[in-house]
Amino acid sequence: MADQAAPSGPDLTAGVADADLREGTPLLGHVGDDAVVLVRDAGKVYAVGATCTHYGGPLAEGLVADGAIHCPWHHACFDLATGRAGGPANREPRLLGCRTRRRVAFASARAVTSGHRTDRSQRRS
Ligand code: FES
Repeated sequence: MADQAAPSGPDLTAGVADADLREGTPLLGHVGDDAVVLVRDAGKVYAVGATCTHYGGPLAEGLVADGAIHCPWHHACFDLATGRAGGPANREPRLLGCRTRRRVAFASARAVTSGHRTDRSQRRS
């Protein structure tokens, strides 16, 4: 039986202080056993599944620009607000609820989207 890697980084449901979350720099953490990245873009915070839906690239190492996170492997991009996929990926990542209170960001275990296919007509370019 193969061992599964323990989730790394902070428990994002316990909160991440404002000072630890830099604009445009994904922060790898976890929600339960699931790896999740917390991303601040244009002042708003998002929680996204950490694994690219194309071939499993590490979104924690991705680039954040123009409201999307871009996978470092083959440059799929995922809209942070809707999960809409672009580039070689055609499936949304898991987006989780996220809230901020008193300069601390909290991810929720509740999925906002979860792996829906993105129609070609709706794809992010
Ligand atoms: S693994 Fe992410 S774009 Fe291919």
